[in-house]
Amino acid sequence: MTSHLRKVELHCHLEGAAPPSLTQSQAQKYNVDTSGFMRDGIYLWNDFAEFLVAYDKVSEVYRTEEDYALLTEAYLDELAGIGTIYSELIVSPDHGDRIGLGADAYMSGVSAGIRAAKAKSGIEARLIVTGERHFGPERVINAAEYAAKSDNPLITGFNMAGEERMGRVADYARAFDIAREAGLGITIHAGEICGAFSVADAIDLVKPSRIGHGVRAVEDADLVKRLADLGTVLEVCPGSNIALGVFPDFASHPLRALRDAGVRVTLNSDDPPFFHTSLKREYDLASTAFGFSDDEINAMTRTAIEAAFVDEETRRALLAKI
Ligand code: ADE
Ligand code: ZN
Repeated sequence: MTSHLRKVELHCHLEGAAPPSLTQSQAQKYNVDTSGFMRDGIYLWNDFAEFLVAYDKVSEVYRTEEDYALLTEAYLDELAGIGTIYSELIVSPDHGDRIGLGADAYMSGVSAGIRAAKAKSGIEARLIVTGERHFGPERVINAAEYAAKSDNPLITGFNMAGEERMGRVADYARAFDIAREAGLGITIHAGEICGAFSVADAIDLVKPSRIGHGVRAVEDADLVKRLADLGTVLEVCPGSNIALGVFPDFASHPLRALRDAGVRVTLNSDDPPFFHTSLKREYDLASTAFGFSDDEINAMTRTAIEAAFVDEETRRALLAKI
């Protein structure tokens, strides 16, 4: 097992990490009936589209700045408890707007949660603002503009999540131009629900240093070579991929094949309780299901730090801990 290894996570959606017990108590507080999206402490969904709906339902029981501080602190405490030294959280100020809380209050709650967790355990965290593809290009551009204009030093990256089958990457490229010009790190969900073409679109049109998932690049050997040559880092989430049926089982999952082809890979949990996983389980799976040694797992953790959206001084300090 990997409990003795230091851990890093680059790809976890904040609301997707909401512990079911916390969601239940939040729902009680706001008198929300949870029977449509959770039962016996398990979030309910059957496919990717239903997962996105359940994700929004869960998100709706986090309503105030304090709720977001609590959620953020709870997840970072959990990560620190398993030896995690650095976390990038994917957050959606646009969601804060949609629920009437407001983007600034949402971000200020999340930031307070980061400071509280850091004060207790020393865990470092940064924020990746995301646009959600299924709400359309305009909202994704708004999210990029928000991130670009923000003076919150914890915001260091920009991402696009959501329904990958909606539109093409080209429709959203402007958002990434805005984020890149503002000096933010760039990553994008691609090659999860859609195939290799989506990864090719992402690298051609967005030029990200990292890709969320990207695992379906394995369907195109030339593309795998391109990723290796470019040094693009994949934020791989094996447990999520199996839960969503992207691959039928861990034996068919391309984590090792991609790594062996020279692609830079990292380990991540995506939306842990939705997918019956955790960062601890992803690290354990790297050992038990994929057969990686401690040295090989540490190499992935080092790759994650090298690709992290942080200042160089923090990067050096983190690398020194592995
Ligand atoms: N939003 C939250 N989790 C996601 C995932 N796995 N893919 C795309 N969008 C998401
Ligand atoms: Zn994701």
